[in-house]
Amino acid sequence: MSVLKVEGLGINFGGLRAVDRFHIEIKEKELVGLIGPNGAGKTTVFNLLTGVYAPSDGSILLNGESIVGLSVDAIAEKGIARTFQNIRLFNELSVLDNVKIGMHTHIKYSFVDGLFKTKTYFKQEELMNQEALRLLKLFHLDQYQDYKAGNLPYGKQRELEIVRALASNPKLLLLDEPAAGMNPNETLELMKTIDKIQKEFNIAILLIEHDMKLVMGICKKITVLNYGTVLASGSKEEILNNKQVIRAYLGE
Ligand SMILES: Nc1ncnc2c1ncn2[C@@H]1O[C@H](COP(=O)(O)OP(=O)(O)OP(=O)(O)O)[C@@H](O)[C@H]1O
Ligand SMILES: [Mg+2]
Repeated sequence: MSVLKVEGLGINFGGLRAVDRFHIEIKEKELVGLIGPNGAGKTTVFNLLTGVYAPSDGSILLNGESIVGLSVDAIAEKGIARTFQNIRLFNELSVLDNVKIGMHTHIKYSFVDGLFKTKTYFKQEELMNQEALRLLKLFHLDQYQDYKAGNLPYGKQRELEIVRALASNPKLLLLDEPAAGMNPNETLELMKTIDKIQKEFNIAILLIEHDMKLVMGICKKITVLNYGTVLASGSKEEILNNKQVIRAYLGE
């Protein structure tokens, strides 16, 4: 079964049809790229998938179940996690706590346990610390666990966002230009890590990235958006040989 199946998705912002007849299908363990020029509607698609905006029309199925109309929190609980184009961390909190916040969808102790610091609370806290550290290690961020998130270098903040999203144990991870603002070396390293994470966690990932070459390096399937609609979707070869894509995206 597909992890995500979207059909006929659309949204109007006043007179602007920002996304129109958008469709995509992501199977288990697939890493799919979403590319398109500035303002094509990529982030809006993420906002629709995560419940930030309610679609004007269309269907969104997560593991066969409709999630249209659910709240942001309900959708996160059902297993979609995301990162943002502009970093959104709790700057004043530690790196470790930022990751633990990402786990809140599956914390196993109650408010009362937390209030009275019961045995369950301490046991659960210990498990959360261990799990958070395990995730941080994937990005070699464990050495910064006690730093304030806001004091991390920019590239590491971007990585921390991904760790936090992973901490919710998602079925589908949405990454919105995770390499934005990184230098070419950092970007290449990040793409390799994303590829590694996908394999290690066996999750489905939808990756927005404006550098077509980078996307093609790790994604076997790609969807190209232009003016809110799907211009093409298919394998790397299909995209590279699509004349409309070449014209619209590469401007040739
Ligand atoms: N809340 C909103 N209200 C009105 N218009 C919006 C809103 N959000 C997005 N838009 C418009 O929808 C269009 C698509 O924007 P979106 O941010 O999804 O593009 P994008 O493909 O992510 O672009 P970029 O590559 O620059 O991040 C743009 O014209 C944008 O101005
Ligand atoms: Mg965007």
